[in-house]
Formats: sequence, structure tokens, C-alpha cells
Amino acid sequence: MKNSKKYIDLEDQFGAHNYHPIPVVLEKGLGAEVWDVDGKKYFDFLSAYSAVNQGHCHPKIIKALVDQAQKLTLTSRAFHNNLLGDYEKFITEYFGYDRVLPMNTGVEGGETAIKLCRKWAYKIKKVPNNQAKIIFVEGNFWGRTLAAISSSTDPSSTTDFGPFMPGYQIIPYDDIPALEKALEDPHVAGFMLEPIQGEAGVKIPKDGYLKKAYDLCKAKNVLFIADEVQTGIGRTGKLLACDYENVKPDILILGKALSGGVLPVSCVLTSHEIMLTIKPGEHGSTFGGNPLACAVAMEALNVLKNEKMIENAIEMGELLRSELNKLKLKYDFVEIVRGRGLLNAIVIKESDKINAWDICMEFAKNGLLAKPTHGNIIRFAPPLVLNQTQLLESIAIIEKSLSKFAS
Ligand SMILES: Cc1ncc(COP(=O)(O)O)c(C=O)c1O
Repeated sequence: MKNSKKYIDLEDQFGAHNYHPIPVVLEKGLGAEVWDVDGKKYFDFLSAYSAVNQGHCHPKIIKALVDQAQKLTLTSRAFHNNLLGDYEKFITEYFGYDRVLPMNTGVEGGETAIKLCRKWAYKIKKVPNNQAKIIFVEGNFWGRTLAAISSSTDPSSTTDFGPFMPGYQIIPYDDIPALEKALEDPHVAGFMLEPIQGEAGVKIPKDGYLKKAYDLCKAKNVLFIADEVQTGIGRTGKLLACDYENVKPDILILGKALSGGVLPVSCVLTSHEIMLTIKPGEHGSTFGGNPLACAVAMEALNVLKNEKMIENAIEMGELLRSELNKLKLKYDFVEIVRGRGLLNAIVIKESDKINAWDICMEFAKNGLLAKPTHGNIIRFAPPLVLNQTQLLESIAIIEKSLSKFAS
């Protein structure tokens, strides 16, 4: 903590107070590990909310960044650039879609998906003007813009930020009868969800939910929109979490690890029919599709496959959960262990003496970074490059930290 205080004080004095970070100040990262300003090493079990799936400062991704940065970084879409077409061909083939619309942050991906869905509703489905409805599920998280928080059921996202976006309906998560009922409205244009809810605490729906929901949407001519900003790109042990149920979303939103955490890159993938409802001048972004992002994203997706990170996520995920389940038997305040691939969580039974924040502080003290999400849930989402030795060392840190709270 010797050097950390001055950095934390500066943020405290000059920055907005819209975050509550674990008090460590990081200055370096490589693979699954990061170092703070005092040279202390940590295993990163958050991966910048799954943006750093390929590991910190992956040398090939950084090389792509540096090489391209020395040539051309931004043209805007007022002109063409020599990488955008290559990237569009590459990413549509990679994920099996007709067309892509590039944006920057995850939340812009979500906004783009909803605009596409509304446009499709008016142009193709023939919903009466301004009456299109999108269905969301409770506990969803897709960012902080007004359109995003308008679908939120978390008071800390919404309080004092109204009024909210009309045309939304929020139904319970993992509830097929509720979806069936909502779909009776002929003005419904889309159903948007995360196949596993990340911010809500790694909530996995019952087997068959995604497929059933998709089939119901098809029967009613409603677009199934998957927000895979956190779950996609290998995080859950498949390229996409929807792959677990062989569901191919009508609109797919990706972000975060699309750049390996190097710069904000997001996109929306969909069919010719849906994508081409938006015409020139109707949507866009100054930075979307910039050549720097195109070069980085192609390399980030290449290393994911070439270095077998998805296979590693499956293997390490299984080992992580089996070790965590042993700890659950030993420490009764660990109530639940759940996850897929390397998107995992433990649920803590909080009491006067035990809370998830203090446990995360103890993890940090012992050299592992994780953060509570939704109070008593701690997410474990290390980079997909974590190897077995690092995983077992991490488990030892988790065990040592939990033992401090045992009565
Ligand atoms: C599922 C999901 N969608 C969208 C977003 C928003 O991404 P960004 O913060 O890049 O706007 C997040 C961020 O955590 C997310 O988890």
C-alpha cells in the first residue's frame, strides 16, 4: 500500500465518485496476472468484467495495435479505410452472420440492436409507427445509457435518473410462461437477454430455456436478441453462451473481449434483411469501424482460436468449480458455486461477521483480485489463458482467505 494512497487520493479528489473499487492501484499486466504500484502481484479474477479474455497485454494483439497505430488510426466513416471490409468479412465468417455493424462500447452495441429491431418492426413486421415493444428480463444489465437503464430492475441504476424509455416490457428471467404471455402482444418486436446474466451474479437459466424462448419468438415473428457482451468470445467455454443450446440469435451483440481489452470495440451481427433496414445517415459512430479497432479485433479473435483459449476455459472452469465445491463443503458460509467455463461465482451467506466485500479485501491482501456483484455474490472470471499451476495457486489463496472467516 506504500505508493497506492497517493493515486487513490487523487481519484478521490478530482474524479467523479461513481465507482467503489477495491483499493489496489495497478500499473502492469501480463496474461492472467497484474502488478500494483508497489510491485505486488495478483491473479486477476475479474478480467475487466470479461474484456481481457485473451490475457493482459497479449503480445500479438499489442503488436497488431502498435503496427496499425503507426499507419492509420481513424478516418471516420465519411471515407472508406483499407481494413474495414477485411474485418467485416472476417467477423461475419467467424460468427456465421451475413452482416456486421461496428460500434465501440458494449452499451452502444445494445442501443444499435434495439434500433435495428425497431426499424425492422416498422419496415418488415409492419408494427404501427412508434408502437414497437421490446421485452427484457429482470436482473438484466447492458450498460449505463438512458436506454439501457430503462430496462434495469436495479434501483442503484435507475434511482433519480428518470424519466425512462417507453416501449419496454420487463418479465421475470428464466420464466417461459411469462414470455409466452408477453408475446401475445402483436406489437412485440424483440426479446433481448443475456444467455447467462453476468452482473446479476452469473445466473444460469434452466436447461432448455434459451431454445424454448427462441422457438417462441420464432412462432410470433419476434427477434431473439442475445447480449453476449460478457458471455461471448469463449468466456463460458463455447464461442458463444447461446451455443450451449444451439440457438443462433437473430441479432447478436458483442463487445469487451472483441479487442482483448485493448480498446473499446463492439458490434452487432445479423442478417441481410434486418441489417439493411437501416439506411445511410440513420445510425453510426465516429469511432465505429476505425482501422485500429479492426486490426486489433481480428488479432484478438485469431489468438482466441489459435491458442485454444476456449478449450482452456472449459478445462480450467471444470477444475475451478470442482476445487470451489470442495471449499463449499469446508466453509458453510459458501452457499453456492456456479458457472460455465471461466464465468463463475460463489454466493456467500452473509452474517454479522462475514460479508463478500471483506472476503474480496482478504483475497486482495493474499494476491487475488475479485469483486462482489450484487452484494453477496463474488464472480470468478480469470483470463482464459490461466494455466493449471496458476489456477491451483489461486485456489490456495482463496482457501487461505476463506479460512480467516471460519468460526
Ligand atoms: C452483458 C453486458 N452487456 C453490455 C455491457 C455494457 O458494456 P460497456 O460497459 O462496454 O458499455 C456489459 C458491461 O458490463 C455487460 O455485462
